Amino acid sequence: MKSIKGLKNVKGKIVLVRVDFNVPIKNDKVEDDFRIKKAIPTIKFLQKKDAKIVLITHLGKGGQSLLPVSLALNKFVKAKFVSDILGKDACDAIFDMKNKDIILLENLRNDSGEQAEDMNFAKNLSKLADFYVNEAFSVSHRKDSSIVLLPKLLPSYAGFQLEEEVKNLSVVFKKPKKPFLFILGGAKFSTKMPLIIKYLKPADNLFIGGALSSDFLKAKGFEVGKSLTSDSKGIEQILKNKKLILPIDVIVSSGNKLINKKVNEIKKDESILDIGKETIKMIEPYVKKSKLVLWNGPLGKYEDGGAVGTKKILKLVAKSGATSIIGGGDIVAVISEEKMEKKFTFVSTGGGATLDFLANGTLPGIKALE
Ligand code: 3PG
Repeated sequence: MKSIKGLKNVKGKIVLVRVDFNVPIKNDKVEDDFRIKKAIPTIKFLQKKDAKIVLITHLGKGGQSLLPVSLALNKFVKAKFVSDILGKDACDAIFDMKNKDIILLENLRNDSGEQAEDMNFAKNLSKLADFYVNEAFSVSHRKDSSIVLLPKLLPSYAGFQLEEEVKNLSVVFKKPKKPFLFILGGAKFSTKMPLIIKYLKPADNLFIGGALSSDFLKAKGFEVGKSLTSDSKGIEQILKNKKLILPIDVIVSSGNKLINKKVNEIKKDESILDIGKETIKMIEPYVKKSKLVLWNGPLGKYEDGGAVGTKKILKLVAKSGATSIIGGGDIVAVISEEKMEKKFTFVSTGGGATLDFLANGTLPGIKALE
């Protein structure tokens, strides 16, 4: 990948920067601006070089406007929002740009060409600019036009955050320090299985929390009541592994009460919300002795108040002095809320992209830049 640091002679040139401002929005307000904040150094670097910066991103699956995102972006840099992608308004606004100006175009996924790997769409986008920068690690696992086709059409570079993601996440599969503790939460066993298989070898221990732990507990024969479970094909081969650590107690919601229970006490009409107190105590010594902690996904249903376990273990990891690499969209929201980002070695902007990168060592969007 060519680094943006090597981008020369951009004075007065138009640089199309693919960012990932797919951020959570509630009541027309951005709830977590972590991804926006992480793209700012690249944007400011280009401003310093007197470039004209055109930001492109998707939001959700399409159909939503980027107006709330533009308001959040303007807390960091002055950027003009144009509610258009390839039409006259976008072209006119880009034509009128002065050096250092920033424009944010409308949601790429509002055009069906973005997700259809459509060369015509990509060609039309490429005509807007002189250079392309990928500063969107977190969507680089998708073969979207702006991710895999634009680099074929314009001189292309990797943004600072993309480079940081690759550098920091690669540590885990290139040179893991030992003891290496892998903490895995979130949901959907099938999406996590390749990662589990890959890291059960280098890791010394694997702790499973979140909805994923319901799949494991169920496979072990425990009642998990109404807890969220998923297709757990292939789980048996992991269950026997001695490195695997599962919760020994959980917080369940039972009617309108929250109860801390041993895992063999869960009833049919209850559902697991979080890991329990004894489990947190059990994990503490593992965290303390680790030199590397890789953590993906929250350990409870954090959006419904099940963030206690995640927060407590985040604090333990922060204190441990271990190299800590943390990712998975939802856990980042907890870290942002607790203002803890600086306490870890690296917090990834990716969700699915982080999982895929850790499993495969690269992503389609990264390959496209090579
Ligand atoms: C993400 O939030 O993981 C990325 O922005 C990708 O979004 P997607 O899953 O809708 O492709």
